[in-house]
Amino acid sequence: MKITYIESDGTPHTVDATIGWSIMENAVKNGVPGILAECGGSATCGTCRIYVEADWQGKMSPPHPDETTLLEYVEEERPDARLSCQVSMTESLNGLVVRMPERQYS
Ligand code: FES
Repeated sequence: MKITYIESDGTPHTVDATIGWSIMENAVKNGVPGILAECGGSATCGTCRIYVEADWQGKMSPPHPDETTLLEYVEEERPDARLSCQVSMTESLNGLVVRMPERQYS
């Protein structure tokens, strides 16, 4: 299982992902920079934002209204934005590529 996280400057980080962990946990536990996750995954900080292309979004569970509200609060309303702590790694996400913002607002 692989996930590739791409920094805003284009630097990629590919990790061996663990199914059942969130996209955030797979980043933090593998030392990927750019995912702060200040709230530890409770969807209250907004510092784990990622951008996900539509094809991959279709393989993810849709955002809970609380996630959408927080994304609107912390950032512009980009349709490709997700909180990486709210998306669990599954087999269908093998090879996932996500992009990270220039900075995480907290
Ligand atoms: S880790 Fe805080 S919102 Fe995702």
